[in-house]
Amino acid sequence: MNIAVLGETVVGENRVALIPSSVPKLVKLGYTISIVSGAGSKAHYQDVEYEQAGATICLDLGSAMNQASIVLKVQPPTDLEIASLPKNSILISLLSPLSNPDLIKTLADASITALSLELIPRITRAQSMDVLSSQATVAGYKAVLTGANELGKFLPMFMTAAGTIRPGKVLILGAGVAGLQAIATARRLGARVEAFDVRPAVKEQIESLGATFLEMEEEVSGEGEGGYARELSEDQHLKELELIATHVSDADLVITTAQIPGKPAPELITEAMVKSMKPGSVIVDLAASTGGNCRFTEEGETVLLHEVKLIGPANLPSEVPVHASQMFSKNVETLLKELVKDGELFLDFSDEVVASTCVAHAGDVRHQLTKEKLSLK
Ligand code: NAI
Repeated sequence: MNIAVLGETVVGENRVALIPSSVPKLVKLGYTISIVSGAGSKAHYQDVEYEQAGATICLDLGSAMNQASIVLKVQPPTDLEIASLPKNSILISLLSPLSNPDLIKTLADASITALSLELIPRITRAQSMDVLSSQATVAGYKAVLTGANELGKFLPMFMTAAGTIRPGKVLILGAGVAGLQAIATARRLGARVEAFDVRPAVKEQIESLGATFLEMEEEVSGEGEGGYARELSEDQHLKELELIATHVSDADLVITTAQIPGKPAPELITEAMVKSMKPGSVIVDLAASTGGNCRFTEEGETVLLHEVKLIGPANLPSEVPVHASQMFSKNVETLLKELVKDGELFLDFSDEVVASTCVAHAGDVRHQLTKEKLSLK
């Protein structure tokens, strides 16, 4: 029951998978924790805090991995880390299996058991382990601040001796976890907020946050499996674009978050829409990693198109590393509790959480969609 916590080496990744306050809780369950020196420093968690919490600080990767039965990370492992993983150990991290099928095969071939945190099922019992939701909350919040920072305008209304400033208008497309947090954040900043989603079920949630829900004339239900959206028909998509076009033109800030599991992000902002916006307006496209909700979005870049700034953040949660790591750590801590039975490490494959998350075990790739990508039976 030895856990090794590794530092993140991907450029721009500031989070850490476990923070000091999680250490005593895991120790109480019977785990011992080793952490690579400096692993938490970019998220402002210092070695001394881990040590005081009961963890052992290791000077290098090798000594942290030595005798580890579980290895924790935020980002997928590098080649060097894979080579250092003890045989039969359990790796827990984000793995993006559908984007990295070869990585999953490599882990399976190396007899590593890999749990991919993106695959935590969206069931009530697993809410406190849901890394996608916790990190989307951070992204939604930070997207609004990023956009507000790039605007040459205020978002709140001001009534001053130097005149009255009207509140800014924010349009949010996609009202899942990130979108709802973006609505709440823009409202806290005093903006007038409109939001649209293809799942009519979110109307009430949008309105309860003080935003206006944009409704299509003819009701379209884009509700897919598991609470996610499905792809719209071409006709429905055109109607959706018509609706969005009438609201984009006077928005100062647009935040797009629309995603469809396993598919490229739907195009919601066309070039004509960007052209219709006021010069200096800003679009923050949170779907940049799956192709963007605007075809001109470039992941990790800001593009200037018709005098509108189009921002495609690559990793917003990493820009709020203290709380993003705190939430990530809590998610991982809850998952680790599930893996202990009578003081022993036990992977129960009849459990929905373990069965859904485990992508490699005992030499086999276990995730069906990843297997299909690898053309495995
Ligand atoms: P997501 O990141 O997959 O998508 C973001 C949003 O984009 C979704 O609300 C989706 O409906 C919307 N969207 C997709 N295509 C669109 C289009 N063409 N136009 C406009 N909007 C479009 O979704 P996320 O945030 O991961 O969660 C989606 C839903 O999953 C939640 O609202 C909830 O129902 C469910 N969920 C359940 C949880 C649980 O039960 N533990 C936890 C988190 C989410």
